[in-house]
Amino acid sequence: MIYSRIVSTGAYLPERILTNAELERLVDTSDEWIQARTGIKQRHIAADGQTTSDLGYEAARVALERAGLKGSDIDLIVVGTTTPDQIFPSTACLIQHRLGANGCAAFDVNAACTGFLYALATADKFIRSGSSRRALVIGAETLTRMLDWTDRTTCVLFADGAGAVILEPSSEPGILSTHLHADGSYADLLFNPVGVSKGFQFDQPRAGLKVVMKGSEVFKVAVRTLGKIVDETLAANNLQKSDVDWLIPHQANLRIIHGTAKQLGMSMERVIVTVDRHGNTSSASVPLALDLAIAGGQVKRGELLLLEAFGGGFTWGSALLRY
Ligand code: ACO
Repeated sequence: MIYSRIVSTGAYLPERILTNAELERLVDTSDEWIQARTGIKQRHIAADGQTTSDLGYEAARVALERAGLKGSDIDLIVVGTTTPDQIFPSTACLIQHRLGANGCAAFDVNAACTGFLYALATADKFIRSGSSRRALVIGAETLTRMLDWTDRTTCVLFADGAGAVILEPSSEPGILSTHLHADGSYADLLFNPVGVSKGFQFDQPRAGLKVVMKGSEVFKVAVRTLGKIVDETLAANNLQKSDVDWLIPHQANLRIIHGTAKQLGMSMERVIVTVDRHGNTSSASVPLALDLAIAGGQVKRGELLLLEAFGGGFTWGSALLRY
């Protein structure tokens, strides 16, 4: 049996930090409201001209360096993103060329905030089937580019960043299982209305380009759904909640994270939280949290990690892995 295992991770956050105090000057909000309802204290914002592929490239560079690899050693690149640089070529192709990995398969996956888990599950299957020997999986976003900075219900939540992992085959797990789901009947609760097929308004390039979210309804479904996927993931592996060493959740809202930790019976000391410093970086949030936990020495080799995410679509997914 071939498994895939994570050989290295990397992350990148843009330099510019936007604090809650600065947002107080933009919209009718307060540091107190943002912290109490979301747990967010600050977030990173991409510089003018800095794109999703720039962020993803930086995270990939770190992951390659830590593994002692070159771009040409990679045979598959999958990028989870909902904010590609442009419609095509894909962000994966743009990053591939900069890394010097030309010739390998490279494509993007759009599953909103679950993008990294969809990308990871895809790459895991390529490795398990013998189709890839070394895969680069990236979650990268410039979510702030599609925010309406006059809408206090969304502009305080989202942010920019990128995280990456390199997967290789192994006779020992590695990734034990991945679980992906979607339900398009919830499309109206969280969306961005702009698109090629629906049409852009070229006279006003940013018109309509915004995140629309019925926050409290999204919140309720997210808590319920993430609880269910935790049970599904553990049952598929015949494991108990107490077997999980670390929960590495999507970082949308500290209250949702508390809800999932409670469902697992886990103390918050075993949960990686970055939402306070990073905000919601969509596809980038799970690989960023994973990288921080590994680089910070919290997560150690051999420990059992549960990764999960929930996002627009709705989409949701999980991965159980032994690091
Ligand atoms: N500052 C001050 N007041 C605000 C703000 C703000 N930034 N935003 C909203 N409010 C007000 C509302 O207008 C409302 O006022 P009202 O009672 O007078 O009408 C009040 O605060 C409560 O609003 P709710 O939306 O009910 O607040 P809630 O406690 O639900 O928190 C939040 C909102 C943080 C958005 C929460 O619902 C949430 O986190 N939802 C889930 C987000 C998520 O997980 N998204 C999925 C991933 S994202 C992706 O896929 C791209």
